[in-house]
Amino acid sequence: MNFKTILFSIFFISLGISKSAAQEVPLLKTSLVGSRIVEFVPKGFDKSKTPSLILSSEPKSKGKMPADWSLIPEFTFKNNKASAVLNLKGEISLYGGGEVTGPLLRNGQSIKLWNTDTGAYSVEGGKRLYQTHPWVMGVRQDGTAFGIIFDSTWKAELITNSDQIIYNSEGALFKVYIIDRKSPQEVIKGLSELTGTIKLPPRWALGYHQCRFSYDSEKRVMEIADNFREKKIPCDVIWMDIDYMQGYRVFTFDSVRFPNPKILNDNLHKKGFRAVYMIDPGVKVDKEYSVYKTGTENDVWVKKNNGQEYHGKVWPGDCAFPDFTNPKSRNWWAGLYKDFLSTGIDGVWNDMNEPAVNDNDFPEDKRLGTMPYDTPHKGGGNLPSGSHLLYHNAYGRLMVEASYDGILKTNSAKRPFLLTRSNLLGGQRYAATWTGDNYAGWDHLKLSVPMSLTLGLSGQPFSGPDIGGFLGDTSGDLWANWLGFGAFMPFARGHACAGTNDKEPWAYGEAIEKTSRIALERRYRLLPYLYTLFYESSKTGLPVMAPVFFADNKDLRLRAEEQAFLLGENLLVVPAFAKNPVLPSGIWEELNLVEGEKEDKYQAKLSIKGGSIIPAGKIIQNAGENSFDPLSLFVCLDKEGKAKGELYLDSGEGFGFQKGDYALMTFSAEKKNNVVIVRVSDTTGKRNIKEEIKEINVNLVLEGKTYKGSGTLKDGISIIVK
Ligand code: NOJ
Repeated sequence: MNFKTILFSIFFISLGISKSAAQEVPLLKTSLVGSRIVEFVPKGFDKSKTPSLILSSEPKSKGKMPADWSLIPEFTFKNNKASAVLNLKGEISLYGGGEVTGPLLRNGQSIKLWNTDTGAYSVEGGKRLYQTHPWVMGVRQDGTAFGIIFDSTWKAELITNSDQIIYNSEGALFKVYIIDRKSPQEVIKGLSELTGTIKLPPRWALGYHQCRFSYDSEKRVMEIADNFREKKIPCDVIWMDIDYMQGYRVFTFDSVRFPNPKILNDNLHKKGFRAVYMIDPGVKVDKEYSVYKTGTENDVWVKKNNGQEYHGKVWPGDCAFPDFTNPKSRNWWAGLYKDFLSTGIDGVWNDMNEPAVNDNDFPEDKRLGTMPYDTPHKGGGNLPSGSHLLYHNAYGRLMVEASYDGILKTNSAKRPFLLTRSNLLGGQRYAATWTGDNYAGWDHLKLSVPMSLTLGLSGQPFSGPDIGGFLGDTSGDLWANWLGFGAFMPFARGHACAGTNDKEPWAYGEAIEKTSRIALERRYRLLPYLYTLFYESSKTGLPVMAPVFFADNKDLRLRAEEQAFLLGENLLVVPAFAKNPVLPSGIWEELNLVEGEKEDKYQAKLSIKGGSIIPAGKIIQNAGENSFDPLSLFVCLDKEGKAKGELYLDSGEGFGFQKGDYALMTFSAEKKNNVVIVRVSDTTGKRNIKEEIKEINVNLVLEGKTYKGSGTLKDGISIIVK
């Protein structure tokens, strides 16, 4: 460069104008990598600049892009920033983007991909949240669909215009994957073929969870647990937020308030509860503290460009942060869980892992709530070294990979349960999620439905909101409305911020306590169905909680419905707040599960789909009790007088199911004249269910009436319909 060119460059840069327009980047390669899945590699793509952390493995070429393929992304490059655009033809309903505020239907929306701690979703008007999902699904008018993954973790924005999907990154070129299939369900399956699925959770994780920031002594925790059992309100899990720690030092216990975690956890277990404890990534800088000491000895910390440890402020004050891009750091982190979990802890909650840093030493526009953009990360193994601008959006995802490995290594006979606030598309392989710090208001209550639906359409089926609202005080009315449908969300947890009112089911007086009991009894009766849905999702990636348009992909009326939702294919949930929801046509019969639900204005309305059989259990107080005593089948016939359904069951814990210790039963029902016969038409798996399921009760719902019958597994059950 001569002097003149340098001057010119400075002139243009200082004006904020690029020297050249965006440069089009030709495609280097396209290949078919799955059934109607095409990989697009732009010329100049370099995986040492944009590693993939989204895909579960590197896809192998299975041939050429099909000749009729019409969806081709266009790449551009400008000022060292890569973008891609997919031009759309025709009217297309857009979905996805992961964790988002705003509507379910994403046409005309934009989000920022820079994982951020955003209380009440207030940062950038709710356009920047805790997670990164560079993924959009389009559904055409005829019900066929496609999806696009921008395989990058660089800081970015994702714009979903009706005629274009635009992904502008602030980093190097990346690959794109496009799936084009006959339905949105098939597209979501394609997404999971590339990015993996959730692991089958332990059954207890599908129960109700009670949390607060914080139940801050062993005594208080046991009071909460005892109240659930005394009041006969079903619950499986009590959560320990940061105050159990000694001065917010992760992997420690407060010596005064939590002196005996082992005894506490044992006592919880005796009452049928599980205990989940929080672990944040920030480690207090304290030379006397073992985690900081061993971290330093093992050289695990993120360091600045000058080689010094990077320190940022979180709960305990100055913290060092593990560099999770480095396998040695991940290993060290995984190893920390051994002693911690030996106290009988059942599950782990990774929070603040965007990572959120409150630090005024660096200008905000160079860090946006976290460490500075140019902070280097070491990489190692398959990962190159790179700046925080590249790795920030993967920090939480790499942390939960390490946590997951540590938990599994420690308790190899148990299924890990891990909840994370920050994550990346594909991170469902390691952790469930919740939608962060919402507040106790009607708008966030309503928003919680499209938020979890969108996560489900973005590969993460295991999610839910802080029921009742985290920030601000919650009224009994709001709580009851929220739990009335929140009880049917995949992850059902009540949570409350420090300084807010008590938000347990009994905190609002007797009437709301009764409502809460009914809502949770309904969930617990449905556990067999819910568990079956989770099993299916762990195989296919299909959402547990699905948008109503999944009932009929061609029915355009349903495309924007975001008050009502489906649980699996067969159950429709209409929250009490819903005003004129657009519901699927066809046969849907009201489903009643629990005494008193019909008279309770807060309960969501449940309907069973014509042609389906929903398995349900009895009311139990925790998921460890036997549900199938008896097993109930709710049957709703289609126009032809037929119905079918499935039940998956196993021990609810451990990995015996992978060796055949499970039963997957298919039920069928058929009406001939005025007799309906319900039978088990098929069973796979080696589990001996004869001891578990002795009796079956059938509830046939037909034109608003319920007909009952009962019998055993062996002989079909006949019901006479008058
Ligand atoms: C932020 C989390 O979002 C919230 O759920 C938690 O209670 C607080 N951190 C305290 O740990």
